[in-house]
Amino acid sequence: MARKKLVAGNWKMNGNFDANEGLILGFLAEVDEQVDVSVFCPFPYLAQVGKLLEGQQVAFGSQDVSAKASGAYTGEVSVDMLNEFGVTQVLVGHSERRQYHAESSVTVAEKAVAAISGGITPIVCVGETLAEREAGRVEEVIADQLDPVVEQCAKFIENGVWNLVIAYEPVWAIGTGVTASPEQAQEVHAMIRARLNAMLGAEVAQSTRILYGGSVKPGNASEIFAKEDIDGGLIGGAALSSDDFSGIIRAAR
Ligand code: G3H
Repeated sequence: MARKKLVAGNWKMNGNFDANEGLILGFLAEVDEQVDVSVFCPFPYLAQVGKLLEGQQVAFGSQDVSAKASGAYTGEVSVDMLNEFGVTQVLVGHSERRQYHAESSVTVAEKAVAAISGGITPIVCVGETLAEREAGRVEEVIADQLDPVVEQCAKFIENGVWNLVIAYEPVWAIGTGVTASPEQAQEVHAMIRARLNAMLGAEVAQSTRILYGGSVKPGNASEIFAKEDIDGGLIGGAALSSDDFSGIIRAAR
């Protein structure tokens, strides 16, 4: 099945009103129907980004969401709140959330469930650390992160399709300038797809987009995106420059 590429920019904790506007206006000309594009901004900028993207073919969302619907959860933001801003996608389980906020794979799965239940597509991030890779534990780590999500979200599959995207982001490649080789990335993507196939069947496995993230730049994006099981990228640093982000969108065509 042909899967449309998705280029998603994760701004992390960066930006301000001026910079956000310049960034978005700087890459919009590059967006067309050939590639899906989305941006993930900090919560305070959702309204601004939503307005800038009104009528444009660019999805936007936040970098996290609460698994809870409402209540005494200081600092949390619910799916319903995101929906009020017109958010259609959300990142869950980014390695920086797992690392600095001790998010477990069970919590990540609960967040994915909350998002899908509220009509928002979760981009579920998985990936191993360098120590885990060197210990030969890549498959085990990815399975531990992925399986709870698959088990919890399988109920949302309709006609072989679910509203869920997976992003493989090896922790050792994030923000380090060291990217996984296209072959290394493809190997893990194929493993993830095989796992989906075993757990959910071929239709879901073939329709699920699996993005690669970790030091993707305009110069290495084409080679990475050319791999069979790589359906686009989750871009960090290079998503903060409209020239770089435009170059990566072009590479996904
Ligand atoms: O969410 C994006 C990833 O963490 C990749 O970040 O492109 O700066 O390595 P990076």
